[in-house]
Amino acid sequence: MADQHNHEHDHEHEEPQVTEVIGEVPDLSKAEARPITVVGNPVLHRECKDVTAFDAELSALIDDMFASMYAAEGVGLAANQIGVDLKVFVYDCPDDEGVRHIGHVVNPVLEEWPADRKRVLDDGQEGCLSVPTAYAELPRPGYAAVRGQDKDGNPVRVDGTGFFARCLQHETDHLYGFLYIDKLSKRDRKDALKQMAEGTPRYATVPNS
Ligand code: NI
Repeated sequence: MADQHNHEHDHEHEEPQVTEVIGEVPDLSKAEARPITVVGNPVLHRECKDVTAFDAELSALIDDMFASMYAAEGVGLAANQIGVDLKVFVYDCPDDEGVRHIGHVVNPVLEEWPADRKRVLDDGQEGCLSVPTAYAELPRPGYAAVRGQDKDGNPVRVDGTGFFARCLQHETDHLYGFLYIDKLSKRDRKDALKQMAEGTPRYATVPNS
C-alpha cells in the first residue's frame, strides 16, 4: 500500500506521533529492492499460491520485499507486487493511535467480522504501489485481523485499527488477486487509472508487455 496521501501545504492533517513500535525491521544487508508490478500484470489479478516451504528462500524473499517496499516508500507490499506468485505480505505501517507496526504474514486469511463491527468505517484515502501516483477515497472497516503464519511456519494473528487496518485488508486482497481499485465505483476506478496514466512513479516498475 502507498503512504498516506498528504497534499503539499496541507497542515491540517497531522499524522499522530509514533509512541510505540510493534515488530522490527529485519537485517536488510543482503536484501535487494526489486521493481514493482503494476495494474494489468497478470500476477496481480489472480490468487497467489499458498506458501508450503518455510525455508531460507522464503526468508530472503521477505527481506527483498521489505527492501522493495522501502525503496518505493510504501507502507505495505504483497509478493505479487514484485512478481512472486506466493501468499506473503510485509508491512511497516502506522495506525491511528501512534503505533508503528512492522512485520510479515504468510498465507494470510482475513477474519470475518460481525456486521455491527463492520459499521465502524474508516473513510480515508487509499493508494497502491501497483497503481502508481493514484489515490481514491475508499471506506473500509476501521478494524481488521489477519490470521496466517510467520516465516518459520508458526501461527500468527495480526490486528489493528485505522490506517493499519486498511493496510491489512489491502495486502490480503492483493494475494487473492484484487487491487483496491477493484472495489471502487466505475467512475472512481477510471479516475484512478487516469491519475496513474498522468503521473510518474518515483520508483522502478515492471513494464507491462
Ligand atoms: Ni497495493
